[in-house]
Amino acid sequence: MSPLMTLTIVAFLLLADLNNAERVLGAYVFQRHGDRTAKAWPPTKLTGLRYSQEYMTGTFFHDRYISANSSYQIDGISTDIVNLAQVTASAPQDNVIDNSGEGFLQGLYPPIGSISMETLRNGSIIEVPLNGYQLIPLSDVQSGSGSEDNTWLQSTSSCSKAQVSSSDYSNSKSYESLLLTTRGLYQSLEPLVNETFSPSELSYKNAYTIWDLLHVALIHNSTANFPSSTILTDSVMQELLVLANQHEFNLAYNTSDPIRAIAGMTLAGEVLTALNETITSGGKSKLNIQFGAYASFLSYFGLAELSNVNVNFTGIPDYASSMAWELVTDDEGTEIPATSDIRVRFVFHNGTGIEGSTQLQAYALFGQSTVELPWAQFVDGTKKIAIQSQEEWCKACGNSTGICASSSGAGDISPSNSSAGCPSGGGMSLGVAGVIGALVALGVLVGLLILSMMVFGLRFGPKSALAGIHRGSDVSTASVMKTTVV
Ligand SMILES: *[C@@H]1O[C@H](CO)[C@@H](O)[C@H](O)[C@H]1NC(C)=O
Ligand SMILES: *[C@@H]1O[C@H](CO)[C@@H](O)[C@H](O)[C@H]1NC(C)=O
Ligand SMILES: *[C@@H]1O[C@H](CO)[C@@H](O)[C@H](O)[C@H]1NC(C)=O
Ligand SMILES: *[C@@H]1O[C@H](CO)[C@@H](O)[C@H](O)[C@H]1NC(C)=O
Ligand SMILES: *[C@@H]1O[C@H](CO)[C@@H](O)[C@H](O)[C@H]1NC(C)=O
Ligand SMILES: *[C@@H]1O[C@H](CO)[C@@H](O)[C@H](O)[C@H]1NC(C)=O
Ligand SMILES: *[C@@H]1O[C@H](CO)[C@@H](O)[C@H](O)[C@H]1NC(C)=O
Ligand SMILES: *[C@@H]1O[C@H](CO)[C@@H](O)[C@H](O)[C@H]1NC(C)=O
Ligand SMILES: *[C@@H]1O[C@H](CO)[C@@H](O)[C@H](O)[C@H]1NC(C)=O
Ligand SMILES: *[C@@H]1O[C@H](CO)[C@@H](O)[C@H](O)[C@H]1NC(C)=O
Repeated sequence: MSPLMTLTIVAFLLLADLNNAERVLGAYVFQRHGDRTAKAWPPTKLTGLRYSQEYMTGTFFHDRYISANSSYQIDGISTDIVNLAQVTASAPQDNVIDNSGEGFLQGLYPPIGSISMETLRNGSIIEVPLNGYQLIPLSDVQSGSGSEDNTWLQSTSSCSKAQVSSSDYSNSKSYESLLLTTRGLYQSLEPLVNETFSPSELSYKNAYTIWDLLHVALIHNSTANFPSSTILTDSVMQELLVLANQHEFNLAYNTSDPIRAIAGMTLAGEVLTALNETITSGGKSKLNIQFGAYASFLSYFGLAELSNVNVNFTGIPDYASSMAWELVTDDEGTEIPATSDIRVRFVFHNGTGIEGSTQLQAYALFGQSTVELPWAQFVDGTKKIAIQSQEEWCKACGNSTGICASSSGAGDISPSNSSAGCPSGGGMSLGVAGVIGALVALGVLVGLLILSMMVFGLRFGPKSALAGIHRGSDVSTASVMKTTVV
């Protein structure tokens, strides 16, 4: 074959590939927090390592979804200055998770430098602090509040039946037998952890907290002499990890008792609602990011049948792990195509450091053989496992007080007009629980936010700035933003 011919064929293949280029229409990202202190010593705190892990992961997603030269850039997304109508971020109230979120968002939309300078009518030039730092409000999801200070994540779901179901695990045969067979192993750790755990606490019952304490110490504590210890060998650490994984997976998911996976059910509902919103709004909302704890990963893995197919999905994902659902199409237009032309791709990355060779990996959901599901099939599969409204949540959880008070009682109560509690508006949203969010911002950031609203508000005009704010209370995602702060 002549070189010219080869070239022609290569060029042809490249062209064919370009013609086939998919468009990414939107995405939902669920992100685990980064490195933190041990749960056994609440309150857990942020660490410098965590901040950098989340920032790097945010930067990765910037390079994938936002950057103009990415082949995965979301169609029509604003590339430099965040458009708050396009991007929604949410997190439960939890110091570690909130702050992880802030770190991630800094990487997602980095400071814009001198573009942010604003000339006022009177000629004064205003410089935005921190080199044009961009502020993306984090709205609240109620489920998972205080997760990182809780050694038992199900307690933060606030779902009555799920809590009962998870506690049932400790009555199961497999739990009891593990409790017995691993007692020796846990007791042998006594000299290492005796300042934190009493001898009676050293058992499989605390499999996760014990592993977590040692894991954190191995990362941070230079004065602990663990590495040279003959007790804590790599293989013991591995054994402890396997046991911790088993313990936590069983608390998060049980095939015959679906309610245990409430965290995954609400997440599935939030993802479906948000992606559907991207489609039905003609692409106005494009990117959702939710920050959370590993229980949501594990219970979703169970529900979506990922753990059936690949045993790695029964393991706790590492710090700063990410999963995402991407809406893609081969349609060549510039609009959102018919749903029959839209597919959903699930991708996951274990831990931090997504770059180069360790990109996001696509996995097939719902026991299917293909990693890209047609929209209709994704909707069917998700509806089987998802909780999409407050009412469904209350019913499934068997809760009838508090925010669930109005969904119990006479079945035909119409949605109330109260602003808190269950939202009206088609019962969509708040899969988690009727949440009135609080804008999460450190004290300093509140000041910055006000300033930036002034600056960007002038830049885009007050209308678009407000549109961004109202999107949250539009109840399209699991969160409602409290506007009083701004
Ligand atoms: C995309 O552009 C940025 C700068 O705008 C550059 O740093 C990066 O390497 C580019 N990525 C690719 C894949 O070309
Ligand atoms: C211009 O207006 C800003 C905001 O009202 C004010 O802070 C600043 O002092 C004014 N500058 C001059 C030169 O008047
Ligand atoms: C649901 O019920 C449980 C147990 O009674 C309770 O702890 C939890 O706070 C309730 N959740 C809500 C949202 O009211
Ligand atoms: C799953 O739930 C069933 C029924 O509640 C129970 O019999 C079984 O032991 C549970 N399995 C695990 C691993 O907890
Ligand atoms: C913990 O164990 C070490 C080693 O056996 C011992 O030196 C230390 O005094 C113990 N600390 C407590 C609080 O029991
Ligand atoms: C580090 O390890 C030492 C020895 O086990 C312990 O006394 C100390 O409290 C640990 N410090 C932290 C911050 O974990
Ligand atoms: C998508 O949103 C539309 C309009 O709100 C609604 O009618 C439809 O039921 C939603 N579909 C799903 C799968 O949630
Ligand atoms: C599970 O993870 C390990 C380590 O990353 C990898 O070597 C193995 O292939 C994975 N197993 C499956 C079934 O993907
Ligand atoms: C992620 O890595 C952890 C070990 O660090 C492992 O236990 C878990 O199974 C992995 N998860 C997946 C889906 O590969
Ligand atoms: C709406 O709220 C007002 C004031 O709280 C109350 O008086 C009224 O009865 C409510 N209407 C309905 C339909 O709940």
